[in-house]
Amino acid sequence: MADPDRYAVIGNPIAHSKSPDIHALFAGQTGQVMQYRHLLAPMDAFEETVKQFAAEGGKGLNVTVPFKTQAFELATSLTPRAKAAGAVNTLKFENNTIIGDNTDGKGLIADITANAGYPIAGKRVLLLGAGGAARGVILPLLDQQPSRLVIANRTLARARELADYFSDAGKIEVCGFDGISGEFDIVINATSAGLDDAMPPISAAVFAKPSLALDMVYGDQLTAFLRFAREHGAEVRDGFGMLVEQAAESFFVWRGVHPDTEPVFSAMRAKPSPELA
Ligand code: ATR
Repeated sequence: MADPDRYAVIGNPIAHSKSPDIHALFAGQTGQVMQYRHLLAPMDAFEETVKQFAAEGGKGLNVTVPFKTQAFELATSLTPRAKAAGAVNTLKFENNTIIGDNTDGKGLIADITANAGYPIAGKRVLLLGAGGAARGVILPLLDQQPSRLVIANRTLARARELADYFSDAGKIEVCGFDGISGEFDIVINATSAGLDDAMPPISAAVFAKPSLALDMVYGDQLTAFLRFAREHGAEVRDGFGMLVEQAAESFFVWRGVHPDTEPVFSAMRAKPSPELA
C-alpha cells in the first residue's frame, strides 16, 4: 500500500495546536488516507523547514502564528484570496510550485453565518484590530455586504491603511477605540489582546440587542473581550469554530473533498487550549 500523503501545521510554538486532531477526524470521516502532524519551525528558519518538508514529499501545510506573512512571501503562486489577505495559512506543494492560499476568511464567515446562524448581509459589523488577522477577513466580510463595516484599532493609522487598501471593495469606516459610534449586530475581536487576557477598551454601548461577539482567539476560558460582551448581553463565540471551518476549507484545497464540521465540534469541544487560528 502507498504511504499516506503527509501534511502538518507549522508554527512557533505549535505543540498546543488542535489542527492535527481536527484533520484526523476529517480524514477518518471522508476515508482520505493521510497523515497530519505538528511541525515546529525555529523562529529564524521557517523557509528551510517548509522546503525540507516539501523535499521529503510533504503535500501541504497549515501555517499559523507567527509565520503567515513569511508563508505569503515564500509562495510561488497565490490565490486571489491569499493576495487580498496579504497572508497565507495554507500551502500546497504541487510539482515545483508552492501554492499559497488563505482559508481564514472563509472560515470566519462560515462560523458566523452557518454555525452561529447570524447573517452578515445588511448588518452592522465592528472589527476590532488592524493587524494580519483583521486584514485576512476584510474582503470576505465586505463580500457579505454588511450595512456598515467599521474598523477600530489602537493605532488609528493602521486602520486607515487597511481601509485605503480595500477601498475598491467597499466602504470601510475607521476610528480609534474611543471614537466608535453607534451600535453593532456583530463585533469581531481580531486584536491579539486576548492572548494576554487583555481586551480593547471599548464601550458596552457597541453591542446591539441582540448581537454576536466573536473573538478569533480560543481557549479553555472566555477571553476578557468575550466576558465583557456576555456581561453586556451579547451572544459570545470564541475562535474555535473559525479554526475548524478554516481547517475544513484547507482540507478541501488539498483533498478536493468537503468534510462535515459538525461531528468535529462535538468531538473536540471538550479539550481546547489557547490558540490564535
Ligand atoms: P495578528 O497577525 O495577530 O493580527 P498583528 O499584525 O501584530 O498580529 O496585529 C495585532 C493587532 O492586535 C493589532 O491591531 C494591535 O493593535 P496596534 O495596531 O495598535 O498594535 C492589536 N493589539 C494587540 N494587543 C492589544 C491590546 N492589548 N489592546 C488593543 N489592541 C491590541
